[in-house]
Amino acid sequence: MSLTERYRFLRAPLFLRGLCVEKSVMYLCPVADYNFSKAFMSEKKYHWYKVAEAPAEIIVNENNIAIIEVKGKKICLAKYQQQWFGFAFKCPHAGGILADGNIDVAGNIVCPLHRYKYSIRNGRNTSGEGYYLKTFPVETRDDGVFVGMEESGLFGWL
Ligand code: FES
Repeated sequence: MSLTERYRFLRAPLFLRGLCVEKSVMYLCPVADYNFSKAFMSEKKYHWYKVAEAPAEIIVNENNIAIIEVKGKKICLAKYQQQWFGFAFKCPHAGGILADGNIDVAGNIVCPLHRYKYSIRNGRNTSGEGYYLKTFPVETRDDGVFVGMEESGLFGWL
């Protein structure tokens, strides 16, 4: 079982894992319907920060990417297919400034330094080098544009 398969296996609900013939410590659990996924992989919680009164207030560069600041941290905002997305200011590879990159037609952020690509939707490294770009949810509400920052829990520093 590859690492990816193992990860998917562990994320699957218990009843699905029960269908798998793979030997696992999960089968030794005396509480048959115990949901490991829920216990160890809780849903993300966000603090929402207002970054503009309206979308028209966000000033984007010619590459359609804007730089904003939330809690003293620079973040990029970009509009793709009528939806706003937030992502890290710097590339996880070698710190290229993603605000100087571009968004391709498939919705990938292209880093200006070495041209690695990341999905604007989820930060997945679509050019395949194995990196992950931090993304931030963006909501356009009646009272403004909001960016979500994950609440840091006990292990927020990890
Ligand atoms: S710094 Fe972004 S791809 Fe290398």
